[in-house]
Amino acid sequence: MHQDWNTQHIAVTGAASGLGRAICRRFAALGATVHGIDIGQGSLDEMRKGLGDQFSFAICDVTNWEEVAKTFEQIPPVDVLVNSAGITGQTSLRSDETNPADVERVFRVNFFGSYHTSKAVIPIMVQRGYGRILHIASIAGKEGNAGMLAYSASKAAVIGMTKVQGKELATTGVTVNALAPAVIQTPMVDAMPTEQVKYMTDKIPARRCGSLEELVAIVEFIVSPACSFTTGFTFDLSGGRATY
Ligand SMILES: NC(=O)c1ccc[n+]([C@@H]2O[C@H](COP(=O)([O-])OP(=O)(O)OC[C@H]3O[C@@H](n4cnc5c(N)ncnc54)[C@H](O)[C@@H]3O)[C@@H](O)[C@H]2O)c1
Repeated sequence: MHQDWNTQHIAVTGAASGLGRAICRRFAALGATVHGIDIGQGSLDEMRKGLGDQFSFAICDVTNWEEVAKTFEQIPPVDVLVNSAGITGQTSLRSDETNPADVERVFRVNFFGSYHTSKAVIPIMVQRGYGRILHIASIAGKEGNAGMLAYSASKAAVIGMTKVQGKELATTGVTVNALAPAVIQTPMVDAMPTEQVKYMTDKIPARRCGSLEELVAIVEFIVSPACSFTTGFTFDLSGGRATY
């Protein structure tokens, strides 16, 4: 029943930009029905025009549990959830120089956002006996990037949640995995201080950034029916930076 993308509904958060936008485009091209979720209209109208009826979107702040629950009530049950909404918050700051409100804001989006959306879809996926949840984490969550306390720690929390959810749902037909990319050039990276981006890219043995094409290829596999014996795992996309 889930062999064909044409029959699948896929929700993607952070759909208006960067990774989320590329993921929406790939799954629409594969024939899936894609539901984009983002806080701002951004490029969503334009995507809707380009992708047609296969793409719908909802304006929803993933930090707000009530908004998330309502949004998922208004769309058909999803077979796949990809959490790509994320922010870096302030960077290039030593951890003792950070602003508690900023650290909290980053956790609200990166950790609580993914927690809220997965909380909304898990009961329905379990009831239907099938589901694929992918949290986009980061190499920062595995390695810790100096100058990026909030971002690194919130992504480590996402990786922790992935392990918990993967184990909890292992017998249900629902898999939960994470992906830890190194640097992929997107508006998020463009907005970061040059020295912080250099710190991150200098650590990639492949000596280049990852591409959106490489990103969508691995995402397509992780959320496919074929990827059925891997759960609670954090996949790597780091050009050799993480070898574990
Ligand atoms: N670009 C990279 O190098 C890289 C590397 C590792 C991990 N990631 C992760 O990939 C994900 C996507 O990053 P990106 O580079 O595409 O960033 P981006 O800034 O291009 O896109 C992020 C999207 O998330 C949306 N968003 C932010 N807060 C939201 C909220 N409260 N509710 C709903 N939507 C919200 C934004 O509006 C934006 O459209 C993030 O989780 C990021 O941490 C990115």
